[in-house]
Amino acid sequence: MGNTWITRAETRADIPVIREITLAAFGREHEADIVDKLRADETAWIEGLSLVVAESAADGAAVLGHVLLTRGGIGDTPALCLGPVSVRPELQRGGVGSAVVRAALAAAAARGERYVVLVGHPEYYPRFGFTRASAYGIRLSVEAPDEAVMALALDEAHPLPGGMIRWPAAFGI
Ligand SMILES: CC(C)(COP(=O)(O)OP(=O)(O)OC[C@H]1O[C@@H](n2cnc3c(N)ncnc32)[C@H](O)[C@@H]1OP(=O)(O)O)[C@@H](O)C(=O)NCCC(=O)NCCS
Repeated sequence: MGNTWITRAETRADIPVIREITLAAFGREHEADIVDKLRADETAWIEGLSLVVAESAADGAAVLGHVLLTRGGIGDTPALCLGPVSVRPELQRGGVGSAVVRAALAAAAARGERYVVLVGHPEYYPRFGFTRASAYGIRLSVEAPDEAVMALALDEAHPLPGGMIRWPAAFGI
């Protein structure tokens, strides 16, 4: 592809553009509001785990996509909740989403995090290693298609535990 994208943690300057991209990607305010609420929730927010893809490393380079990992749990075990993930509509299906999700999972693993859960497109997340959470006895407290609730163990030495997923309050689950 020959692009010069970089992935990096969000900075204060990125906050308005992350909102703009989230609004554009989802076509409504709900997910953009979740991102802002998560940023304001110090029990959920983890510095360094809100990542963007930027067009280049240059100052002021356009931000193309964003993903967020925040503190949740599986039963009593700490886990990360992935999402929302957003890519500028005109750039979707060009690898931006994959780049930012892979970077976020690597950053989480580097911090010693073990587990990630999400509710999302069942066709999209298996490419990152996510599988159906119910197979591990991981449950969601609200109705959702079984295949949309997915989980990933970042460290093979620590298999996924079972239990009810705990989400940051911003998700309203
Ligand atoms: C979903 C999203 C984050 C994916 O990012 P992306 O940069 O478009 O995707 P990538 O280029 O990394 O990957 C492309 C692949 O993802 C698949 N894909 C993209 N959007 C998809 C969707 N909504 N459902 C299922 N698969 C999807 C494509 O079919 C393609 O598959 P292939 O590699 O087998 O051909 C992005 O399209 C987006 O912002 N969508 C709107 C918001 C949204 O739905 N967010 C996720 C909520 S779970």
